[in-house]
Amino acid sequence: MQNTRSRSWFEATAAWGRRHREPGWLLLPLRLFLGVTFSFAGLQKLANPDYLDPHSPASVAAQMRVFAHTSPIGRLVGLSAHAPTAVGLLIAFGELAVGLGTLLGLFQRIAALGGALLSLTFFLTVSWSTTPYYYGSDIVFAFAWLTMLGFGSQGVLTIDHWLREPTVAQAPRPGNRRPAALAGVDRRTAIRAGAAAALATGGALALGGVTAAIGRAEHGTAHAPAALGPGTTSPPARPQAHRPARPSSGRSTAGTVVGTTDEVPVGQARAFTDPATGSPAWMVHPSGETFVAFNATCTHAGCPVQFDSSGMQFVCPCHGGVYNARTGAVLQGPPPAPLQPIAVRVVSGQLRVDG
Ligand code: FES
Repeated sequence: MQNTRSRSWFEATAAWGRRHREPGWLLLPLRLFLGVTFSFAGLQKLANPDYLDPHSPASVAAQMRVFAHTSPIGRLVGLSAHAPTAVGLLIAFGELAVGLGTLLGLFQRIAALGGALLSLTFFLTVSWSTTPYYYGSDIVFAFAWLTMLGFGSQGVLTIDHWLREPTVAQAPRPGNRRPAALAGVDRRTAIRAGAAAALATGGALALGGVTAAIGRAEHGTAHAPAALGPGTTSPPARPQAHRPARPSSGRSTAGTVVGTTDEVPVGQARAFTDPATGSPAWMVHPSGETFVAFNATCTHAGCPVQFDSSGMQFVCPCHGGVYNARTGAVLQGPPPAPLQPIAVRVVSGQLRVDG
């Protein structure tokens, strides 16, 4: 009796060990990582009020204006830049759907295909100018999704498995004709699949909506920099000498007014669009009556940098580049050169730049 019990325990353990060497279990850590990462990325975008603000340097619109000139699919990006809000929402909800589908194991291969397409698009835009190429994570994500596309979830901890189960259980034996009852089972499976898809879509929309509402409530207007100028499409940045601006008593009307000194408190920065290039830019008020301005395009791979008032720094969200907000100098990370400075003149309380 004792021997029989030990043998069955040993067999159960061996079977469990064999089972966990199957691809579905071996790929589970990768599947969880991809699912969590893409869900988080989608929610993070929806929670960031700057993301859909076309005047913010951190917005998807600003990034698209840059990528239209740096990406091998720039023409396509330029076309889609006419509807930046729709594209931004498509990306954010696409990432959320791919992430949740992967976590739940719902339509796993379709989710993996979506993840691969999104990662490939990011590789050809966000990561395209990254050197060496392996510093950009998107190419790694693209290949990871291809692996998930090839193997699927293999029925491990998935809703897909639950959806298919009745059909498998009542499948006709070899040589038998398809039973009429199976048509009902297929219908039931289709209804279940439709219900699961509707539930997941509704859940993703609700989750995204709640996250966006919370993000907007938390950030308020204090974080989101308002634009000082109109947004336009973006030619390449121009070289300029960097001289901090101080008030001038003259009545010069040269240049374009991009704001007033009152709009940028000491220690803060505000976004504007450089009238000379159409690129997103930052106006900084580091101290006293000194104002400096920089093109917001990171010199590493072209992502728009964000202002961090606590450290008086610009931080690049793509690969962690950090710049001094007073001088534009690189403080850390991969950027090879300082931010492009823009000459500022202060005339009668107005902030003027060329263009
Ligand atoms: S784009 Fe790579 S650090 Fe900014």
